Amino acid sequence: MILIDGKKAAAELREKLKKEVSDLKTKYNKVPGLTVILIGDLTPSQIYVRNKEKSANEVGLKSDVIKYPDTVEEKTILNKINELNNDETVSGILVQLPLPKHIDKQKVINKIDPSKDVDGFHPMNVGNLSSGYESSIPCTPLGCYLLIKKIEPNLSGKKAVIIGRSNLNGKPMAQLLLKENCTVTVTHSKTKDLKAECLEADIVVAAVGIPELVKGDWIKKNTIVIDVGINKTDKGIVGDVAFDEVSKNAKALTPVPGGVGPMTIACLLKNTIDCFKRSQV
Ligand code: GUN
Repeated sequence: MILIDGKKAAAELREKLKKEVSDLKTKYNKVPGLTVILIGDLTPSQIYVRNKEKSANEVGLKSDVIKYPDTVEEKTILNKINELNNDETVSGILVQLPLPKHIDKQKVINKIDPSKDVDGFHPMNVGNLSSGYESSIPCTPLGCYLLIKKIEPNLSGKKAVIIGRSNLNGKPMAQLLLKENCTVTVTHSKTKDLKAECLEADIVVAAVGIPELVKGDWIKKNTIVIDVGINKTDKGIVGDVAFDEVSKNAKALTPVPGGVGPMTIACLLKNTIDCFKRSQV
């Protein structure tokens, strides 16, 4: 079984991006900039944002975090996004989710200039991805995709089963694998026989938020299994895959933590650099 080392893959990607930023600096005499908007004081959001800032600095990006209390008015955020849209030193804008209840998430996402939408959440980017056009691609599925490609460069004709249909993970993951000519099944809470679906799969991506849902006897030999889950349980953080059981059958498997997580942030940096590059032509 191949234990997919997301930490190592992310470190390699960051090295590549660092070199790219240095080359861009030489060519344009400026560096890509990422601005994160953080509203409120949820601990997980604060940790994510701190890690994003640290990684951005490490590869040489210009990085800013703008913080607001969770009582901030929606129009203050929309005005700030408008300002950032018009600021040419800002290549990428990310509004950390979740937002306080009184702020309309879709309104906020729609306000971000699609060419600066490093999350790939704007409907324009969602549409471009599903049409097979160039777009920002949501960071977690992009990270999963890069890990899968490392194990299996030619995905054409492979059967992929995705567990979960969220806009954040499941749907964009399906689009990425379709583009690679996989036969893709997107499963969800109403799927009749999830085990039977998984037993057909060459690739399983579990992104559903149910601790250790995917069992050892759901996975045939030679299947690549990607675990997007981060679930807090009595025994600590576990994924959506029963790791010990599945590792006996799978061809390759991502651990939690240390699998998909580190790639998500590295892909955010990649998206920021890609937005910068597209803005220079
Ligand atoms: N909160 C948790 N994951 C994400 C993400 O990928 N993007 C944003 N904007 N917020 C998040």
